[in-house]
Amino acid sequence: MSVLLTGGLGYIGSHTAVELLQSGEDVVVIDNLSNSNIKTKTNIKKIASEKRKISAKNFKVYIGDLRDTNLVEKIFTENKIDSVIHFAGLKAVGESVKKPLEYYDNNINSTLSLLKAMNKFKVKNLVFSSSATVYGQAKSMPIYEDFEVGATNPYGRTKLFIEEILKDAYAADSTLNIAILRYFNPIGAHDSGLIGEDPNGIPNNLMPYISRVATGRYDHLNIFGNDYNTHDGTAVRDYIHVVDLAKGHLKALKKLRKNCGLQIYNLGTGVGYSVLDLVNAYNSVCGNKVKYIFAPRRPGDVDICYANVDKAKKELGWTAKRNLKNMCKTSYNFECKKSKLK
Ligand code: NAD
Ligand code: UD1
Repeated sequence: MSVLLTGGLGYIGSHTAVELLQSGEDVVVIDNLSNSNIKTKTNIKKIASEKRKISAKNFKVYIGDLRDTNLVEKIFTENKIDSVIHFAGLKAVGESVKKPLEYYDNNINSTLSLLKAMNKFKVKNLVFSSSATVYGQAKSMPIYEDFEVGATNPYGRTKLFIEEILKDAYAADSTLNIAILRYFNPIGAHDSGLIGEDPNGIPNNLMPYISRVATGRYDHLNIFGNDYNTHDGTAVRDYIHVVDLAKGHLKALKKLRKNCGLQIYNLGTGVGYSVLDLVNAYNSVCGNKVKYIFAPRRPGDVDICYANVDKAKKELGWTAKRNLKNMCKTSYNFECKKSKLK
């Protein structure tokens, strides 16, 4: 039996593929390379092979679009899929405001295509990549899973709509097992430096931008806002190492296989750090190369956002292990390695 990873060559998918392969699972990936590179396939195999011999039977990659129902059916026909982890999607908030229809088409229709195939081939287990973005401006901190939801942009709305679609699918078929994972702020890279976050174009998110300043690609970081109601005036987020996050998917899969029904989990560390905390931690590992200036607040940003992670700890037996310094160290290592490789 194999686990199907949609978007498995992307940032979080590739780290999860490594963890799955290393734990003895067979993995099938579908990815259209809209935000990833085929070289990642080789790198996943290379890392996983350090723990286990990986053959074509253990790790297969299909390049194509999840909305292509013929391809999706072919994948389910050619492989014995036991569970699916659904990462595929477009994820840039700003872009989603400019191209809402593209976001709704890609994110929603790819999910429908997947759910129809799962239904046809009687595959019951699904992990879905949701986001802390569904909490919008939360009423208090930390954020619990049962807090009110509401999105402020098309990207966030696709996550909310998909969560609703999954709840309806589960209401119609209670033999489904679905884990909705709401990620907080994934950063960091694999210890090998072979896989990490490498967005196309200018990064919107903080960590990839910092990494590019540290390696000289950009001159300085703009810190958006230093007048927030936080310990140093810069905004606070719950940064989580991508390898910890990937391990959370394995725990969720284990839970699904015990027939858990539909469950929602926050995946974060439960600790908030400010932009300046992150920059200082990064500077301590890269030798103070990250110059910054303060700039106006970014529209739509919240001041503080961090998770309560008790539910994942109690029900999945999962907690994040890596600290901020390790997140910075692995990101810097990946960025340095990548710059030299290019
Ligand atoms: P990513 O862009 O690195 O990975 C997504 C992958 O999906 C890419 O490889 C892309 O090529 C592929 N893809 C997109 N549309 C596709 C389609 N129609 N068919 C086939 N492949 C397709 O993103 P990521 O950071 O790894 O995020 C994975 C998931 O987690 C996304 O759904 C994202 O919205 C969600 N998420 C990410 C973050 C984050 O900060 N990275 C936070 C919360 C939630
Ligand atoms: C972003 C997404 C959110 C998603 C989350 C998880 C936006 C508006 N929101 O949230 O939907 O769920 O990622 O990954 O993109 N910052 C700077 N300078 C920069 C970039 C960022 O100061 O160049 C600041 C931001 O203002 C913010 C913090 O760094 O305070 C983190 O930003 P970012 O990495 O974009 O994540 P979020 O805004 O939390």
